[in-house]
Amino acid sequence: MARLIAPSLLAADFGRLQQEIDAVVNKSEADMLHMDVMDGLFVPNFSIGIPVVEAARKYCTKPLDVHLMIVKPERYLEAFHSAGASFLTVHLEASKHLNRTIQEIKRLGMKAGVSLNPHTTVSLLEEIITELDLVLIMSVNPGFGGQRFIPSSLDKIKKLRKLIDETGSHALIEVDGGIDEINAGMIFEAGADILVAGTSVFRSSDPVKAILQLKNAGL
Ligand code: DX5
Ligand code: ZN
Repeated sequence: MARLIAPSLLAADFGRLQQEIDAVVNKSEADMLHMDVMDGLFVPNFSIGIPVVEAARKYCTKPLDVHLMIVKPERYLEAFHSAGASFLTVHLEASKHLNRTIQEIKRLGMKAGVSLNPHTTVSLLEEIITELDLVLIMSVNPGFGGQRFIPSSLDKIKKLRKLIDETGSHALIEVDGGIDEINAGMIFEAGADILVAGTSVFRSSDPVKAILQLKNAGL
């Protein structure tokens, strides 16, 4: 299994995005940049939009991992593709015709991900798991950084690992919310491939070291 780290830009200093991306993502062992898009409807908050993704594409030397927390995400697939997303993840709870949405993301040339809120069961992915490049397990309620990891997420990761292995799916497991150097080892151990980390990376006094600690947690 891979051990990839995706720093989440939500916790960066928005007045210095170029420098933050350069220091924390380009010049570290980070594998991609996670970008949270919110619409004030699917989640009770706003964050990054298309122009910020475009700007990040200009300055970031690694893939952009875009997490859409918006209703009817199918309206904006092409826009995020043009903006430079490599991975595009939509929420299962926000998309009525998920199969069509996933096919469209792939047709545009991006990796297709589906995210599950903490209350959404892994078994709802059974009919689509072999189509997916990535599954994002939310380990906090989406909308805000700096929340505490929900411990039952570990069981969900294990269930998802089993589903992926049994079906021969190539989907990567990404986990997002409340991840730090204390719980990162357990999360990898449960079967995760990619850890998203906002606060524990960008608010650390040494983000480059924090990324390395997450990557090697529990080894
Ligand atoms: C929350 C976002 C996360 C967030 C994680 O809705 O999806 O990506 O940035 O932040 P931390 O690591 O601070 O929990
Ligand atoms: Zn996210």
